[in-house]
Amino acid sequence: MGRAKKVVLAYSGGVDTSVCIPYLKHEWGVDEVITFAADLGQGDELDPIRLKALDAGASQSLVGDLIEPFVEEFALPAIRANALYEGRYPLSTALARPLIARQLVEVAREVGADAVAHGCTGKGNDQVRFDLAIAALAPDLKVLTPAREWSMSREEAIAYGERCGIPAPVSKKSPYSIDLNLLGRSIEAGPLEDPMVAPPEEVFAMTSSIDAAPSQAQDIEISFEAGNPVAIDGVRLDSVGLIKEANRLAGRHGFGRLDIIENRVVGIKSREIYETPGLLLLIRAHQELESLTLAADVLRMKRQLEMQWAELVYQGLWFSPLKDALDGFMDRTQIYVNGLVRIRLHKGNAMVIGRSSDTNSLYISDMATYGSEDNFDHRAAEGFIYIWGLPSRLWAAARRG
Ligand code: ARG
Repeated sequence: MGRAKKVVLAYSGGVDTSVCIPYLKHEWGVDEVITFAADLGQGDELDPIRLKALDAGASQSLVGDLIEPFVEEFALPAIRANALYEGRYPLSTALARPLIARQLVEVAREVGADAVAHGCTGKGNDQVRFDLAIAALAPDLKVLTPAREWSMSREEAIAYGERCGIPAPVSKKSPYSIDLNLLGRSIEAGPLEDPMVAPPEEVFAMTSSIDAAPSQAQDIEISFEAGNPVAIDGVRLDSVGLIKEANRLAGRHGFGRLDIIENRVVGIKSREIYETPGLLLLIRAHQELESLTLAADVLRMKRQLEMQWAELVYQGLWFSPLKDALDGFMDRTQIYVNGLVRIRLHKGNAMVIGRSSDTNSLYISDMATYGSEDNFDHRAAEGFIYIWGLPSRLWAAARRG
């Protein structure tokens, strides 16, 4: 493989991606490293990050505000699909990767780069997501992955960086590995590697502890249109504002923490702590509205396809024909998902306590009621059950001989 001359590197400002800059130039003979840092609502100051890349030897340091596409094109589809990997993890990290990859490819095209690069290690899911997204969008672009190939420990990487003028991290070294964006935080490593060690309170930043959560419950109402959350307590918000407000409310009541053993794409089990308050709250409310507005068989099929959707996204197949086809199914179902859900937030719980839909409810009172307005034909049940049970009766008779 010939040498890349101009490379666009996905940049976070951390040690690993900073070390990638001199490493690409000095070890791999790259002429020019252009960094790209994405704003995904993680709350980092992007200006210092931009300068840090230049100090580390980048010839250009670009930042892009991706918050709106992140929510519109990635978070909302995940809510519509009730996407929970292995039934639990709402993909807060996984959803960001195809968007960053898409932007890397775009920047590479603009600056005429012949390769892109990322600083993911060889045992995580993120490398899979970047590599596959880039392959699907730009099969001609080379992907350089220094951190997957250098065999430096973290200490060695820091020392290498220092030799190239990259200051070692100043703050007392946190033992945790953290990824964060508007949708949530993932926390790994350090003491958490022992699956029996409870996560210390210090790892959380978006959610209150149960102890510190208000003792008073709070009831909120979330409104949906075509499967998208559009208002909280009757106040319409743009989608970014709505996610922020959902984070604030759920986080305040200590809802949205996860402590799970997760199956990575590369075959290992890992212990993961997440806090994704808003996303989990919105998925719960959305599921509930679907149970009111979708036909039983559509609902059952959707629940199966949701698992498949979440698995594809987790495994890096955001840009794939199956994911694309599943999106078609999801979107078609969502035209009916209009209405609102009432939720009680209290001490780490988010309990559904009401749901309604003026336009699409399939809950028919005179069918459901046990009162005098009952219009269900009780006698018709007999013939239905006779035929429904016929196979059982025939099977039993045949066994008796
Ligand atoms: N296990 C999670 C996932 O695969 C979190 C990954 C966190 N990534 C990171 N670079 N720290 O989505």
